[in-house]
Amino acid sequence: MAGSAIGLGNIWRFPYIVGEYGGAAFVVLYIVSTIFISLPIFVAEVVLGRKSRMSAAYSMSSLRPGKRVWKFAGYLAVLIPLIICSYYSVIGGWSMDFMLKSFSGFFVRTSTDEVTGLFGNLTDSVWKPVAMHLLFLGVSCFVVMRGVKTGIEKFSRLSMPILFILIIVMICYSVTLPGAEAGIEYLLKPDFSHLTPRSFAYAMGQSFYSLSLGMGIIITYGAYVSKHENILASSAGTAVADFAFAIFAGLAIMPAVFAAGIEPGAGPGLIFQSIPFIFSKMGENLPVISGIVAAFFFIAVVVAAMTSCISLVEVGTSFLSEKYGMSRKKAVLIVYCICGFIGTLCALEGRLFDAFDWFCSNILLLVLSFLVAVFVGFILKKEEVWDNVTNQGQIAVNGKIFPVVYFLIRWVAPIAIAVIFFTNFIL
Ligand code: PHE
Repeated sequence: MAGSAIGLGNIWRFPYIVGEYGGAAFVVLYIVSTIFISLPIFVAEVVLGRKSRMSAAYSMSSLRPGKRVWKFAGYLAVLIPLIICSYYSVIGGWSMDFMLKSFSGFFVRTSTDEVTGLFGNLTDSVWKPVAMHLLFLGVSCFVVMRGVKTGIEKFSRLSMPILFILIIVMICYSVTLPGAEAGIEYLLKPDFSHLTPRSFAYAMGQSFYSLSLGMGIIITYGAYVSKHENILASSAGTAVADFAFAIFAGLAIMPAVFAAGIEPGAGPGLIFQSIPFIFSKMGENLPVISGIVAAFFFIAVVVAAMTSCISLVEVGTSFLSEKYGMSRKKAVLIVYCICGFIGTLCALEGRLFDAFDWFCSNILLLVLSFLVAVFVGFILKKEEVWDNVTNQGQIAVNGKIFPVVYFLIRWVAPIAIAVIFFTNFIL
């Protein structure tokens, strides 16, 4: 679950959303919403998966058959990963482009002025983002088709800790850049006047996105969680690891953003502007180290994007083969074609990319999370949830914690989601 949670959402999305929606004050909102809304939903999704032992498409409708709304929730859980995968692979394509550039030592050789413009050059080109997106999907499809999926997953187990170490190295360098303090302050010293009414929805949406909530992924993983696992502890552990990754990525990037004079609210290209700046600057004194760190960094980012893409594709694939009895090969091809098509549109038109990202993280994830909270809070009986969390009383769960978590699932999470959802439309 931590593997699914930690990904581009932490490295790519978190820093730019923080930059757009309020800096450190946004981080505070993000933490509050992770503790009081996302964590209870996380537990609810694991309970659902572990109880039904079904994938997200059928978990709710199998536990309470007959009601249309739970079937609808199941379809949402298939649709959302498909849409996310379509534009996620566009970022995968950007990362691949930067990875290839890093192989030739491009960032080390290029001046700091030029290097921040690389992302602009990439997205100004019509064919390149599309080509890179299709290349990324092509490689991912090859990996799935050839059954080397476990290979890449094993590789990602190795490359994720490496990525973490590289990020620490980058933080150490980034904070020494002239003007870096402004970036650290921006990320760690809250100024609540920076918040806008939109910040609330984005904080919650980012928290869901980053923990892979509201898209059926954690429900599906929950089906594999052992009965003996203390899910309250493992959910909290996942959230802490996920947050640590995000904040460290922010600490590597924000100082560089300020040192390079990039606008923190520059949008989805933020890391692709600021990270090459770090490598270019580092390259002035330490060319070899900078070249190596850059290459490994972008390899790890591509692998993180690839494993997420594969897990997203899996949802649609297993749905098509279960429901329509399709061969796996055919199902995989269909899903990749859909992602290729929608993603190409996103790669061509930035506004469409933004619209998809917004629609998923601020609307669809909220709808599914709301339904999950209501299902676990009101449709399942309290004893059923208790039995699942404690494995019939065998797992020692602190007696005071369960009622709090249950209250959060039943009341706080759905009400907060509903309020934020509607204010999002009004404001
Ligand atoms: N939670 C992941 C991240 O932070 C995004 C993701 C979504 C991964 C869906 C897998 C599936 O990057």
